[in-house]
Parts: sequence; structure tokens; C-alpha cells
Amino acid sequence: MTPPTLPIVRDEHQPALAIAAAGRQLPTPPVWFMRQAGRSLPEYRALRAEHAMLDACFDADLITEITMQPVRRHNVDAAILFSDIVVPLKAIGVDLDIVPGRGPVVAAPVRTRADVDRLRDLEAEDVAPVLEAIGAIRGQLRPDQALIGFAGAPFTLASYLIEGGPSRTYTHTKALMYGDPELWHALLDRLAHISGRYLELQVAAGAQLVQLFDSWAGALNRPDYVDLVQPHSRTALGYATSVPRIHFGVGTGELLEEIGAAGATCVGIDFRVDMRDAVRRVGGTYAVQGNLDPALLFAPWPAIEQRVRAIVDAGRGARGHVFNLGHGVLPETDPDVLTRVVELVHSLEGAA
Ligand code: CP3
Repeated sequence: MTPPTLPIVRDEHQPALAIAAAGRQLPTPPVWFMRQAGRSLPEYRALRAEHAMLDACFDADLITEITMQPVRRHNVDAAILFSDIVVPLKAIGVDLDIVPGRGPVVAAPVRTRADVDRLRDLEAEDVAPVLEAIGAIRGQLRPDQALIGFAGAPFTLASYLIEGGPSRTYTHTKALMYGDPELWHALLDRLAHISGRYLELQVAAGAQLVQLFDSWAGALNRPDYVDLVQPHSRTALGYATSVPRIHFGVGTGELLEEIGAAGATCVGIDFRVDMRDAVRRVGGTYAVQGNLDPALLFAPWPAIEQRVRAIVDAGRGARGHVFNLGHGVLPETDPDVLTRVVELVHSLEGAA
């Protein structure tokens, strides 16, 4: 297993969330929510009524405003850049759209060598509004609040490109992965450099840590993940070694060690894994992030409080803990409950 590089914790002026994600235990765990910027917020829905999703992702003012909305409302310890995993693909000319209620849809699925060769490198000019927004967001955040940059991991990006849209079975993706490993590796290598470069550009512009989303990697068993996917995620994360790196996928309970060993400093734990097991398995080597079930936020407060406390207790056993959900905020979530969870986590002080 490749040990993670943790060069970052020396700087005491880093925001708490960057310190925790780099692998240091803090008295109070910092907290943010995956998909905190989005449809759970009325102020987001009002803005999006006037702008299509991808238009918003290429408008510096809208990116800045939508990124800051949940920070102002919930007092979370980090902003996550408002963007989407398909933004760098759109930026290099892939014909795709984000369809409400469905997700990214690609006009011409990528399935041949010629399709792969058309995926060119990402340059700063391609994502100029994103990089401009990062500067503006840093200007609005307090010094103790972090800005998280992110990208989609090669496997998850490949699944959208090959299927042409969201999938539950990944049939075309797996047919190509098992049937033509050479083309598969060529595609994932292209995507790794695009994804990695996107992370690198965000860090250069001011992102203080990054998260690599391999949302659908849980569709793979461990040996296939190790042979066919992990080397490419490692390439992508290799572009961001100057900052802490969170690596997350849904349903990756079988893969936690490998998710960490891909070059992360912090392993994202989804809600299907007992946090104590996760800490036992990877918490000695990496920080952990997670893992409240997003659906639990619909339960009465005492049930939520009990689970939040249990996760914070379990997280104290790891090298560092970032409190989060085990996947994204569901659109119907009451935002006041999210605010209350932040207040609760911030009130829980323990020994560092
Ligand atoms: O607050 C944040 O977390 C930052 C913003 C963010 C978005 N997408 C905005 C968005 C992030 C980090 C993402 C990442 C993303 N996008 C992932 C990885 C995270 C995960 O959920 O596992 C994936 C798989 C995608 C692809 C994607 N984009 C999906 C599946 C969807 C949902 C489709 C739907 O309508 O239900 C999107 C659209 C999307 N991305 C929205 C937002 C706020 C909703 C768009 C809208 O307002 O209609």
C-alpha cells in the first residue's frame, strides 16, 4: 500500500477542514455537506429558475453566489465549488447536457479509439470563469473556512461518456472494460489527465483541498478496481499532492483501503458502512470523512442527534475526521435541519 504524503499539516494557518483532511485529529470535527449547494436551498432554486445548470457552471458570478449560499446559511467549515463533474468535459468540447432529474447526458457516447482521441487536454482558458470564481470565493470566505475544489474520477466520468447518461448497470462500461482493456486504459488515462489537470488548476487558483468523486466505483469488485481503475485515479490525484485529498465513492465499503491507497489523505465513508468499522480499517492511515445517512435528516431530531454524536465519537479514533453525510444532500431536505446539524457538531468538543 502506498503511504499517503502528508506534507500539509505544518501550516498552522490552514483552515480546520484542511488540517483534519490532511490527517490530524481536532477537538471539534469540521463539517460540510456533499451537495450543500443545490436544490435543498430556496435561494438556489430561485437562481436556477433563471439559468440552465451548465450555463450557471460557466458564469463566474453565479458560481460564486451559489457556492457561498450554503456557507452563509449553515456556517459550514468549507465551501465546495459549485460546478459538476462533467464541467471539464464540456469545457474541452464534449457535447453534453445536465438534464434535470436525470443527470449528465452525452450526445455521442464514447466507444471507439477515434472517440478517445478526440478528448483533448484541458487548458486554463477552457475553465476561465471557474478559476475567476475561485478567487472571488476565497475573497468572501473567512480565513477559518476552506474552499474545496473537486473533480470526477476517471471511472465515474467514463461511465457517463460510455453509457451516454446515468446508468444503474454500467453494461456498456463493463463490456468495454472487460472486452477491450487496451482501449479502456487509453480512455481512463485521457480522463485521468483531464481530471487531474482540473484539480491542479483549481488549486493554483486558490482551492485549499480537493475531493475526487468516484461516485460509481462501488459497482466494481476489489481486484477489478485495483487493476482497471485505481492506477488512473492515482494519476488524477497526483496532480494535487500539494493539498489534502479526499477520495469518495458510493457503496465502496469493499474498497476503502484501495480508495485511500489511490493517493488520498482522507477516505470518504458512505452511509452503508459502520463508521467504527471504517475507522478500524483505514483510520490509522488516513483521515475519514462521513457518514450520516442523508435520509436520516427526515427523522425526528432526537434520532438525528444520536447518530451525529455516534459518528463524531467514532471519528475521534481516526487520524482526522471531517463530518459529512454519507452521500449528497437530498433535494427535499429541510435546510434548517442541516443548519442544526452544523451547530450540534460544532458544540461537540473532545480531546484532540
Ligand atoms: O454542493 C456541492 O456538492 C457542489 C456541487 C456539485 C454538483 N455536482 C452540482 C449539481 C458536485 C460536487 C457535483 C458532483 C457530481 N455531479 C457527482 C459526484 C457526486 C455524487 O453525487 O456522487 C455526480 C455523479 C454528478 C453528476 C450529476 N450532476 C448528477 C447525478 C446530477 C443530478 C441530476 C438530478 O437532477 O437529480 C447532476 C446535476 C447537479 N449537479 C445538480 C447540482 C446542484 C442539480 C441540478 C439542478 O439544480 O437541477
